Amino acid sequence: MNRNVHDIIKQMTLEEKASLCSGLNMWQTKAVERLGIPSIVLTDGPHGLRKQADPADMSSKTVPSTCFPSGAGLASSWDRQLIEEVGQALGEECQAEGVHIILGPAVNIKRSPLCGRNFEYFSEDPYLSSEMGTHHVLGVQGQGVGTSVKHFAANNQETLRNSINAVVDERTLNEIYLRSFEGPIIDAKAWTVMCAYNLVNGDFCSENPYLLTEILKERWNHEGFVMTDWGAINERVKGLKAGLELEMPYAGPERDQMIVDAIRSGELEESVLDDAVERLLKVIFHTIDNRKEGFIYDKEAHHELARRAAGECMVLLKNDNALLPLNTKQSVAVIGAFAATPRYQGGGSSHITPTRLDAALDAISALAERGVAYAPGYSLMEDVIDEAMIAEAESIAAQQDVAIIFAGLPDAFESEGLDRTHLNMPASQCALIERVAAVQPNTVVVLSNGSPIAMPWLNKVKAVLEGYLGGQATGSAAADVLYGFVNPSGKLAETFPSSLEQTPSYLNFPGGKNEVFYGEGIFVGYRYYEAKKEKPLFPFGYGLSYTTFAYERIHIDKQSMKDTDTVTATVTVRNTGSRAGKEIVQLYVKPSDSSVVRPIKELKGFAKVSLEAGEATTVSFTLNKRSFAYFNTDIHDWFAETGDYEIVVGPSSADTPLSASIHVRSTEIPFSKVTRNTKFHELLAIPATTQFAKDAMKESMASLEHMGAVFAEGMGDEGIAQLLKAMKEWKKYDGIRSLTGMLGSGMTDAQLNQIIGQLNETLGLKNASTK
Ligand code: BGC
Repeated sequence: MNRNVHDIIKQMTLEEKASLCSGLNMWQTKAVERLGIPSIVLTDGPHGLRKQADPADMSSKTVPSTCFPSGAGLASSWDRQLIEEVGQALGEECQAEGVHIILGPAVNIKRSPLCGRNFEYFSEDPYLSSEMGTHHVLGVQGQGVGTSVKHFAANNQETLRNSINAVVDERTLNEIYLRSFEGPIIDAKAWTVMCAYNLVNGDFCSENPYLLTEILKERWNHEGFVMTDWGAINERVKGLKAGLELEMPYAGPERDQMIVDAIRSGELEESVLDDAVERLLKVIFHTIDNRKEGFIYDKEAHHELARRAAGECMVLLKNDNALLPLNTKQSVAVIGAFAATPRYQGGGSSHITPTRLDAALDAISALAERGVAYAPGYSLMEDVIDEAMIAEAESIAAQQDVAIIFAGLPDAFESEGLDRTHLNMPASQCALIERVAAVQPNTVVVLSNGSPIAMPWLNKVKAVLEGYLGGQATGSAAADVLYGFVNPSGKLAETFPSSLEQTPSYLNFPGGKNEVFYGEGIFVGYRYYEAKKEKPLFPFGYGLSYTTFAYERIHIDKQSMKDTDTVTATVTVRNTGSRAGKEIVQLYVKPSDSSVVRPIKELKGFAKVSLEAGEATTVSFTLNKRSFAYFNTDIHDWFAETGDYEIVVGPSSADTPLSASIHVRSTEIPFSKVTRNTKFHELLAIPATTQFAKDAMKESMASLEHMGAVFAEGMGDEGIAQLLKAMKEWKKYDGIRSLTGMLGSGMTDAQLNQIIGQLNETLGLKNASTK
């Protein structure tokens, strides 16, 4: 078969080329048979395959596939290897079902706990989210199946998702929202990217040159193609120009014709279309060349993987008096309709038909030697407090050693297409928990929900296991954890707030009729709670185990480094309990003295380690420039400022017992040109201009003191001293303009301009003007 893409493009008519830029139907691309260009199948994703038996027939049934835990759950495993295994299984199922590209992973940041799609997304932290997305992509693509990293970008709410304009400043966009896409796109080389429905800073994502061309194609060198989210097109030709290759699904002949017409009229260069077709063909052929015809996957093995994955994801939030793990000899009351009818996946485009479904009631019944008493306790049809159902639950709970209540959010409480408006569970479930806990001191709550909830009953129960939406094996996995066959090791990939009012985006979510302002900036998730000294219900990174771990020692291999070097931190962790378990070791970096606003600390490394009772291990983390950098909007790039940083390590964002300090020296220039307002401290930090800055500062110091004293009239000696101290703080000190004029020592503007010219010359910033 001819794989010479340039040669094929030369043989294509304009109409044929334009035809490739939109789908054939809901799930397929168009073929050009005379040139051997095949049609390929793209279906959802992300945590299970949602493929219609006949992709060309919208009325055909969805084929069964393994339902793995959804993104929120998977991320709580913090387990790169596990995510990759899940990705591999998804890839195998795609091969078996003839699917060439699976639509996912979804790596949007959880800006607010209210986003209806948070169950599909990984985290509030861009590094964790990016790592999870990277390994998902590696797993799937390792099987010769493409991924589509979605939804690019800033798609952090469902309210008005087709028309809302997300107004996000450049630094926040890069540091938080785009950062999450970097790993899957740059490191794992995702074959395709799906653009979001919304607008970002005034342009639809489907026609946003900043996102699709400047970031994706130019900065990140993405070589694959961009497809729309389903129906996310605005103006077709504008989209193509901005870097959108494929419109999905097919919406009639008009759009392809618009491309043809634009080229014929001279509005669009044909080379733009040729470039798009080249990208499309390369991926299409790549998927075809990697097809494994006749592939069969092992359903049983995939179910077992789903069970293992669900067990790794569950987060033990509370376990007073070591109520858990349970003993199979204890008598148990299993309460809650979710025990028999699990809530294991979310609603919307990711909703699949599972190959099997494990109910916790069955799994617990199989283990509890004295059998179980069961009461549904609440209705799944409506949220009404049913006295008779609660009384039945109270009665069986009172008679057993332990009560396990399965509760959480029903489908109607969270879904794609809809944001939540509160953090509450159904009132009927809260009432049930309170009433059962009042009669049974040994009450455990097992939660099924895709996003954080309020827990007004938390103090009344002894144990809480957060199961998220754990996929088709969630029921058996819950039993594995409850009875200690699996030692819980998940940790929260998002903060559970104490109240909705406490959340970072509270004042700006979901925005007005046209736009949503990301007013909290970079302070998303724990970055916000820490800066505001707010105590959440449960912090980011938190999760208990049936064993305990001690953080014994940290060693860093250097105390000082250039931003071009790396530093390795080695940490010793010991299992100090009496059973084997896994710990997620988290490393955060804290800037000590920054000239820009920064979060208290940010996650820059993590590792999940497995330790026998008493065993210790060392974990190494390699940090580089990016571990210390912020996104500098003067140079539109990452910049690690010269200064001291603390490297802290521990079991959660709220508990970092180990710490070490490092001095980082920047080798880069934090601005594009020296101007009258360039800061002294920036010039001080650049070796080539340090001497100038020192001399200039010394010169201006005398007049600074004089003027400071003049301005401080009426402030008293102590006030004057404070003022002078503040004025002399290098990082707060004014720009070099202050060498002239009132604070200067007689320097003229002409002289300053000359110096600026010389400084630019010295720094190689040749074309810079002095403005
Ligand atoms: C969702 C995407 C999904 C697509 C196809 C859209 O509504 O936002 O995530 O992949 O539909 O089902």
